Amino acid sequence: MDIQSIRNYQQESKLLAREQGLTEFVPSHAIVLDKIVTHAMKKGHIPPPPARVLDLGSGDGSAMGVFACHGYETFGIDVNPTLVSRANAFAKTMCVEGVVPPRFAAGNYLPIELRSAFWPVPHLLLGGDDGFSALGMPAQAIDLFYAFIRISQSASLKRFFSSCARKGAKLLSYTNPITSLDFGVEVCAFDEILVECERIAFRGIYQVLEKK
Ligand SMILES: C[S@@+](CC[C@H](N)C(=O)[O-])C[C@H]1O[C@@H](n2cnc3c(N)ncnc32)[C@H](O)[C@@H]1O
Repeated sequence: MDIQSIRNYQQESKLLAREQGLTEFVPSHAIVLDKIVTHAMKKGHIPPPPARVLDLGSGDGSAMGVFACHGYETFGIDVNPTLVSRANAFAKTMCVEGVVPPRFAAGNYLPIELRSAFWPVPHLLLGGDDGFSALGMPAQAIDLFYAFIRISQSASLKRFFSSCARKGAKLLSYTNPITSLDFGVEVCAFDEILVECERIAFRGIYQVLEKK
């Protein structure tokens, strides 16, 4: 599985999502994400493989495909069971030598007690069962969380990370300022625990936080 094949798969997913009205789902750009992962690994911003990475809102599973190609052990949680089925079917295509195929579960990554903490946030879904129970793995077991977000989701993401991640875990968030509905809003919303914020290529801005 190469990155261009993952990008092609994302293009199919986008068409499918449009046909089925899955408006919450927009995939990361696999080629830009690959550049981000390569860069962040080289700079030591993220733990090296085979660390455990979990995609918060994993959609079609393609982002974890990119991390799996780099040797990470990968997982995802998404509230939409149609996308989770698609992601698990995609994972089967990654059963090749040297790659641990990703594993996906349907549910909400926010624990129930945190969900009431938010005013309605665009594109942050608050329904569904607990995603970590469905995955059979606690959030504390994850070394690196990944999220492709709109800026309006950054506060809820930070709240999740502060409450649920273990000490030393990292959160890599990728924002595409071109497609973000929040284009123009300040990007560095996580300043107090920001490890790094870099712009990679034209369309990639990533931030890495560390849980203190
Ligand atoms: C912008 S897409 C990102 C897809 C994928 N992470 C990627 O990078 O390609 C956001 C996904 O998050 C899911 N989602 C939104 N809120 C969620 C929540 N609280 N728990 C689980 N999934 C959620 C949506 O169903 C959607 O598939």
